[in-house]
Amino acid sequence: MGVAVAQRVHAAAVVYARGDVARWLARPRSRGTPPVTRRFWSPGRVNLIGEHTDYVGGLVLPAAIELGLHVEGDATEGPRSTFRSDVPGVERYVAAVEGELAALGRPPVAFQGDITSTLPVGAGVSSSAALEVAIAVALCAVADFQLEPLELAGAAQRAEHRATGVPCGILDQAAIILGRAGHAILLDTGTLEHRSVPLPPSIAIVIVDSGVTRKLADTGYRTRRSELEEALAGARTPKHERRLRHFETENARVREVAAALEHDPPDLHRLGDLFREGHDSLRNDFEVSIPELDLLVDLAYDHGAYAARMTGGGFGGSIVALADASSARGVANAIRDDYIARTGISAAAYVTAAGDGAREL
Ligand code: GLA
Repeated sequence: MGVAVAQRVHAAAVVYARGDVARWLARPRSRGTPPVTRRFWSPGRVNLIGEHTDYVGGLVLPAAIELGLHVEGDATEGPRSTFRSDVPGVERYVAAVEGELAALGRPPVAFQGDITSTLPVGAGVSSSAALEVAIAVALCAVADFQLEPLELAGAAQRAEHRATGVPCGILDQAAIILGRAGHAILLDTGTLEHRSVPLPPSIAIVIVDSGVTRKLADTGYRTRRSELEEALAGARTPKHERRLRHFETENARVREVAAALEHDPPDLHRLGDLFREGHDSLRNDFEVSIPELDLLVDLAYDHGAYAARMTGGGFGGSIVALADASSARGVANAIRDDYIARTGISAAAYVTAAGDGAREL
C-alpha cells in the first residue's frame, strides 16, 4: 500500500522475556525465598482514522492511549495460569491466548497474578485486545519465550477470534504493542510495514463514550466485513459500491491525516475536514454509525474540537476528537454534558494522550 518504511517489522524486535525466569523456576521454593513479582502494562487504543480497512489490507492510524491494564504476578508451578480480574470472562481469553502461544512453541510455564484496569469495557477502546496482549506478554515473559512484536500481535488477534468469534483485523493488537508516547502508528495492514507519526504536543485526544453498548456489533461487523470482501472480489450492487467507496476514500484519508499531522505547523483545518469526511463515510457508505455517535461528532465540533469522528467498529462505542490540550478537559465535559442533556443517556468523557505500548515494567 506504499507506506514509507521507517521501521521494518523484524528491526523492531522487542524482548518481552527476561532470562532469569528459568533459573528462578529451577530453584526450590523454600521459606525465605523472595517471590519474583513481575509487572506488565497493556494500554487501550484509539483509532484516529482508517476504520474497517484492517481486515482487507488497508491503512490505519491508531495510537495506544494512557488508559490500560496492569498485570502483576509471577510464574507458578502447575499447569494452569490464573489472571485474577474483574473483567468478565477473563478465563476465556487466557485459554485462547495460551492456545495460540502454545501453537507457536511457548513452553507451558504457568502464570499467577492480578489484573487491574483503568479501561472502560465496551466503549470501543479495545479493552479485550488490551487483555489479550497483557496475558500474552506476561505468559511469554515467564516462559522466557520471545516473539517479535507483530508476531505477538497476530497471536493476540487470533486469540480474539478464538475467544469471541469476531473476525477482527490486526489494528487493535498492533496499536497496543507498537504504541509510542506522543505518536500515532501508521500501519499498512497488508504488508505490516509501519512507522510512527508524531502528534503535536499542543493537541490532546478526547474520547467520549456514547453509553450505547455495542449490542449488534458482532453480527454487524461480520456482515460489513463480508460485504467489503465481496466488493473487492468484484460484486457491484449499489451496496457493494458504497462499501468499496468507503474503503478507497478511507485509505486516501489515512495518508492525508498523516500528512496534515506532519505538516509544519500541523494543518488543523484539514484534520477537521478529513475527520468529518471519515465520519460521513462510515455513516453513509459503510453504515456502521448510529444517531448517538452522529450527535456526539456534531457536538464535538460545536464545542471547539478541531476534529471528531466515530472510532472503532461502530454500532455504539465512542467518538475520538482532537482538541487544544489547554482546553481539552472543558471541551470533553461540554460535549458529555450537552449529550446527556439531549439524550438522557449517561456518557463518559476521557482526555488522554498517545502512550507507550505493552511491555514489562
Ligand atoms: C474493531 C476491530 C478492528 C477494526 C475496527 C474497525 O475495533 O477489532 O480490527 O476492524 O473494529 O476499524
